[in-house]
Amino acid sequence: MHLPKAELHLHIEGTLEPELAFALAGRNGVVLPYADTEELRTAYLFDDLQSFLDLYYALMAVLRTEDDFAELADAYLARAAAQGVRHAEIFFDPQAHTDRGVPIGTVIEGLGRALERSEETHGISTQLIMCFLRDKSAESALETLEAAKPHLHRISAVGLDSAEVGHPPAKFREVYAAATALGLRKVAHAGEEGPPEYVREALDVLGVERIDHGLRCMEDPELVDRLVSERIPLTLCPLSNVRLRAVDVLEEHPLPAMMAAGLLCTVNSDDPAYFGGYVGDTFHAVHEALGLDREQLRTLARNSFEAAFLDHDEERRAR
Ligand code: HPA
Ligand code: ZN
Repeated sequence: MHLPKAELHLHIEGTLEPELAFALAGRNGVVLPYADTEELRTAYLFDDLQSFLDLYYALMAVLRTEDDFAELADAYLARAAAQGVRHAEIFFDPQAHTDRGVPIGTVIEGLGRALERSEETHGISTQLIMCFLRDKSAESALETLEAAKPHLHRISAVGLDSAEVGHPPAKFREVYAAATALGLRKVAHAGEEGPPEYVREALDVLGVERIDHGLRCMEDPELVDRLVSERIPLTLCPLSNVRLRAVDVLEEHPLPAMMAAGLLCTVNSDDPAYFGGYVGDTFHAVHEALGLDREQLRTLARNSFEAAFLDHDEERRAR
């Protein structure tokens, strides 16, 4: 689907395709526990979020240099451009790299190098969202924000990802307050596997402007009313929800019900190398499996620009 659209829920590490993983492994002398790309692909059968995260973090071992991060981001942007993406707000997980000895500057400057030429090379405007891993400590998140300070000109917002259940948003109250004081915008994953209460906490305690996933809000009609009346965007990822077993099959995804309820829904790819498709593929899949018509797809594309962190002039140019 080539409708012009913005992608707002995309983990750059989740765009690491098996071919690039093996190429980087060879270049960096990293031995992967898979014979080839085919064997690696057979590992892409997940039971839940954690079983995916185990492979997602393990495969990152191949990313070591600024060039690696630039190449990863450039490969994503080329694929996204081919599927109609005009603006991308891209997550990255610094702690997943600093914990294995890669300096945060290598990560941010490498990604930044690809992103700063993206408008010219791919016709995609970009922003970078630095995510804290919620299964690590609040202190580690604060240290990460501190370490990112020399690179803040490259970062628009902070986010929260990784294993959700047992790690409620309130754990990160302090680092979100510090991010606000630095002028950063705020999002958080909530209500993917965690309860509707985590969505409320992300709004009330962290002050986020957008909810990533938010699927489980549908269990709480009062919360749905609030999200509708405050026009809080949800960055949904239907293919991810199927692969991580949040829904059984795409045909049963609540996206149509969520749109009918008046929620500001957007559709995104999350970790496209692992979940079977980039954002254009995702639009195509919800059209086929859920019967969303052309007008509804147009609404989703329009929503993506409304929900983006763009000012009015930038939004007009991107559309
Ligand atoms: N959820 C939480 N953390 C993540 C995800 C996700 O879907 N993808 C990458 N990190
Ligand atoms: Zn995600």
